[in-house]
Amino acid sequence: MTLWNPSVYLEFGSERLRPALDLMAQVPLETPKRIVDLGCGPGNVTALLQQRWPKAEVLGIDSSNEMLAQAKENHPEITWQQGDIAQWESSEPVDLIFSNACLHWLGDHESLFPRLLENLCDGGVLAVQMPNNFAAPTHQVIGDVLGHDHVLCPGFPVQEPEDYYNWLSDRTSRLEIWETRYRHILEGENPVADWTKGAALRPVLEGLNTQAEKEAFETAYRAKILEAYPKARDGKTLLAFQRFFLVAQK
Ligand SMILES: C[S@@+](CC[C@H](N)C(=O)[O-])C[C@H]1O[C@@H](n2cnc3c(N)ncnc32)[C@H](O)[C@@H]1O
Repeated sequence: MTLWNPSVYLEFGSERLRPALDLMAQVPLETPKRIVDLGCGPGNVTALLQQRWPKAEVLGIDSSNEMLAQAKENHPEITWQQGDIAQWESSEPVDLIFSNACLHWLGDHESLFPRLLENLCDGGVLAVQMPNNFAAPTHQVIGDVLGHDHVLCPGFPVQEPEDYYNWLSDRTSRLEIWETRYRHILEGENPVADWTKGAALRPVLEGLNTQAEKEAFETAYRAKILEAYPKARDGKTLLAFQRFFLVAQK
């Protein structure tokens, strides 16, 4: 299982927060009683869910102890639970299942998404955001360096919007699907490589066997990423980032 480092992940906290807020803005619920944040990470989005619906019981679930430790430290008032979403079932029906930037780490969405809906009460909402940027240089350069058939190359975990529609439309009263292509404006010498280090590169760096292999990979990756994302005139870097959104109401 991929080890997560909360401080590396939070380095681009405000850019990573924006899609979560865009998703939250589309949740059509006034007073949900029970909210679950699946793959809550360091808990900053979970805390915003609690802020938006202060009377709700909010539960943050994540498989990473490191992430949960950070979440607990920053927000002791919220309930946190360690668990694997692939096995997760709620003990009672939930009004809102929220999941930001997490479900692309799990496979078999054709089973996963309908199964998540089963945990909702009638009228409950499943709200999901996932990066859908796997054809971009951030991911493709991993294959350019390792070889595209290398076992550590990321696949394309997010399926076509039509697939999600077909899996969910006959189980929902309302279904919204959209995509947004953000342009994150990043500062630093090689900020896109720093960004991926907090997410897509983690399984790759963990999967390489020796320190020398890790260092050689990172050096080559960083050089190619600098070429793929040239700096703007003011020295900042624009990172184009496509994300997939889904709001399904039971
Ligand atoms: C990119 S972070 C997103 C964190 C948070 N939702 C946010 O918006 O900042 C992805 C999180 O998903 C968690 N995760 C990945 N696979 C998981 C699984 N199978 N079960 C539970 N959590 C998982 C990771 O531990 C990590 O904290």
